[in-house]
Amino acid sequence: MVRSKNAVKRIGILTAGSDCPGLNAAIRAIGKAAQGSQGAKLITFQDGFQGLVEDQVCDMPLSGILTAGGTILGTSRESLHDTTGQDDRTSAAVATYQRHNLDVLVCIGGRETQESAHRLIQQGLNVITLPKGIDNDLAMTDTTIGFDTALSTATEAIDRLHSTAHSHHRIIIVEIMGRNTGWLTLGSGIAGGADVIVIPEIPYDVRKISDAILDRNRSGRRFSIVAVSEGGISRDTVEFFEHSKHVNRLTREGQERVQVEEQLEKIESRLTGNTIYLANRLEKYTGLETRITILGHLLRGGAPTAADRVLATNLGTACLNVINEGKFGVMVAIRDGEIEAVPLDQVIGKHKQIPLSHPWIQSARNVGTSLGD
Ligand code: F6P
Repeated sequence: MVRSKNAVKRIGILTAGSDCPGLNAAIRAIGKAAQGSQGAKLITFQDGFQGLVEDQVCDMPLSGILTAGGTILGTSRESLHDTTGQDDRTSAAVATYQRHNLDVLVCIGGRETQESAHRLIQQGLNVITLPKGIDNDLAMTDTTIGFDTALSTATEAIDRLHSTAHSHHRIIIVEIMGRNTGWLTLGSGIAGGADVIVIPEIPYDVRKISDAILDRNRSGRRFSIVAVSEGGISRDTVEFFEHSKHVNRLTREGQERVQVEEQLEKIESRLTGNTIYLANRLEKYTGLETRITILGHLLRGGAPTAADRVLATNLGTACLNVINEGKFGVMVAIRDGEIEAVPLDQVIGKHKQIPLSHPWIQSARNVGTSLGD
């Protein structure tokens, strides 16, 4: 293997935000490429930005981790600044970077990680990021490390739920992670043949869902699988929020505002129990027994699929080329099938929801799936 001449020698790495399958494959790729081609040293920080701020490094093996779920480095949701912007830990992070005499810091993470990495870039550090997260909600990349594995896990769960729904003639609602995007729910709903798919991008009308389920029953299909995003929202809730914002604009104080806020609290409590609220309404409107399965953190676990291992290895090794070209302040992304170094300022502050024109939405409709609208 030809050693790059002006290659960097000291590479810091951290994983931040939620864990996901494929992170260790990416760490392995960066480490093996760095040590193999240019004899670089990998400085691995524990638990995301918390480890950088507190200068917590850990020696990690690069062998035997390709198929391991989670992240061998540990992670945290610590950012470099709290929401008030008061407790800014950026200077401590910069001090750690300088103390280790790093040539570059690689941050593997989702939306919040990209924001923290950007703050370090603004302080003049050489930083590169990789896109990760089961939600696939990062802008400027086709997909993220971990998404394919979570999609397979959610699809397998929907497959399994079909037999019990069919046997008991029930509605089974399966709640799927994704924060405020529906990629995981829509993809696994299509792959698993869900009869109803509810995503945050399309506020649902519970009556439309009930009608679709009753239509199925009338044609002899006496069960239904409803795939619901954890961020799914009903149309009447959206309308209430719009109304309350309107009322808040009209009344800056007084009784009416208090009433609106009390109602908002009621709505928000329903939002956190949105799936339970939906189940209760469906059982009431259809007269069918309804049960809920919340997949939750199951979707974050397990060994990465082959696709995620290939993606993580491609992005991780490409990261070295980008570093050796002296390109910093970028996210190494996959766009239209090609690896691309995307400037971070085109990534931060955005999140990628499903465009209503996306082919997955049309495909779901074309096979007769109700999207609740
Ligand atoms: O961002 C990934 C994710 O799994 C989301 O889908 C989910 O809403 C969130 O993390 C859960 O966060 P935590 O693991 O901190 O409970």
